[in-house]
Amino acid sequence: LTLDLGPESRASADVPPEPLSSEAPIGRHLLPINVGRSPSGHLTVAGVDLCSLAEEFGTPAFVYDEEHLRVRCREALAAFGPGVAYAAKAFHCKAMALLAFEEGLALDVATDGELAVALAAGIPGDRLVLHGSNKSVHELEAGLRAGVARIAVDSFDEIDRLESLVAGRGGVQDVLVRVTPGVEAHTHEYVMTGQVDSKFGFGLDSAAAEAAARLRKIEGVRLVGVHAHIGSQIFRTDSFAREVAALAPFVSDLGVGELCIGGGLGVAYLNGETAPTLVDWAAAVRSACRDARLPPEVRVTAEPGRAIVATAGVTLYRVGTIKDLPGIRRYVSVDGGMSDNPRPVLYGSGYEAFLPRCPDSARRLAARVVGKHCESGDVVVENARLPADLAVGDILATPVTGAYGHSMASNYNRVGRPPVVFVRGGRARVVVRRETVEDLLRLEL
Ligand SMILES: Cc1ncc(COP(=O)(O)O)c(C=O)c1O
Repeated sequence: LTLDLGPESRASADVPPEPLSSEAPIGRHLLPINVGRSPSGHLTVAGVDLCSLAEEFGTPAFVYDEEHLRVRCREALAAFGPGVAYAAKAFHCKAMALLAFEEGLALDVATDGELAVALAAGIPGDRLVLHGSNKSVHELEAGLRAGVARIAVDSFDEIDRLESLVAGRGGVQDVLVRVTPGVEAHTHEYVMTGQVDSKFGFGLDSAAAEAAARLRKIEGVRLVGVHAHIGSQIFRTDSFAREVAALAPFVSDLGVGELCIGGGLGVAYLNGETAPTLVDWAAAVRSACRDARLPPEVRVTAEPGRAIVATAGVTLYRVGTIKDLPGIRRYVSVDGGMSDNPRPVLYGSGYEAFLPRCPDSARRLAARVVGKHCESGDVVVENARLPADLAVGDILATPVTGAYGHSMASNYNRVGRPPVVFVRGGRARVVVRRETVEDLLRLEL
């Protein structure tokens, strides 16, 4: 079997995939921490049988191991300290925002919508960092009103907007200047953000110093640090070391007390992949800071998203159609697709698939798992392996769907977005309910 790893993975995996038997069951490292088996051999997460859960809540559904999310938050906090923020864009809802806050993380929000959800969850403004490229006047106002801890300033136009908003307002807003350090991370072009040719931030060699100087002249704004984010799904810690090396002299010259290196740590999606841990990542960053002689009093922080939530989540689908094209391939159609997981379409991302009713079975059947949307590109798992007795009506699961699945979900073909179910201690609770046709119609005037 040659699994198509997808461009993100091909470009980024510095550890060559281990030669796993093509029929091997799903790798343990791709599943949430608290998995087990029910008496009938079904996969359980936090003591909840995934097949029963699908019956109770319907499919498709996003299921998260709550304890897994908490453990990852604690790891991030231990690795980077109290300035570390969870990047809400990876997966955002009130329950997740609250969980991250309870575990001691700040939250990075990138739009007024993400800000509103965090505030509705009861997160205090001083635990929020407002990001976003092309922030509107309304978004900046909302951030100021909420008393966010930091605004990461992205462009000269944004500086103009901020300047007029703070004029005569009283108080001081702490800001970071977002810099593109000219580092090309080893990842997919669409999720690469640190290179010079980028819509984000100020070029380190061109505009960053001028932006910092302008911010320093504005009464009511205090420049407290430098921010950069070089991309997402990055497996090589040396990319982050290059980022630190590029930024350290600028931080030292400015004499600011904070450097946020952004998010971007990759996760394994496929049986043969491995990724650095949050601890490995922080260790590499710290060592790069020492090598770059960053003053030790500078607070170095990060904003992991995917690394916290991806592996905690599993998507459950139901198989509706199996179509055999002899000599060509077998198509297995499920009741979701690109509307709940656009990553395969956007980046050619690879996933695994398995049947929760028999997670330990050999996967002898080669198939393409596809969605229900009106596009040939609506692929869920391009080269899936599944047990040979797969049948219509089976619950089929894709692991590692906790990041950029629900948060990137759409209503294409007027499909309602799936619910989010948190499981913990043998109990399941819906934290975001399924979107209904009534929800969709509510927007129509
Ligand atoms: C500014 C910023 N911080 C953090 C992140 C989180 O990245 P990841 O989920 O890859 O850790 C992103 C992702 O796009 C981002 O743009």
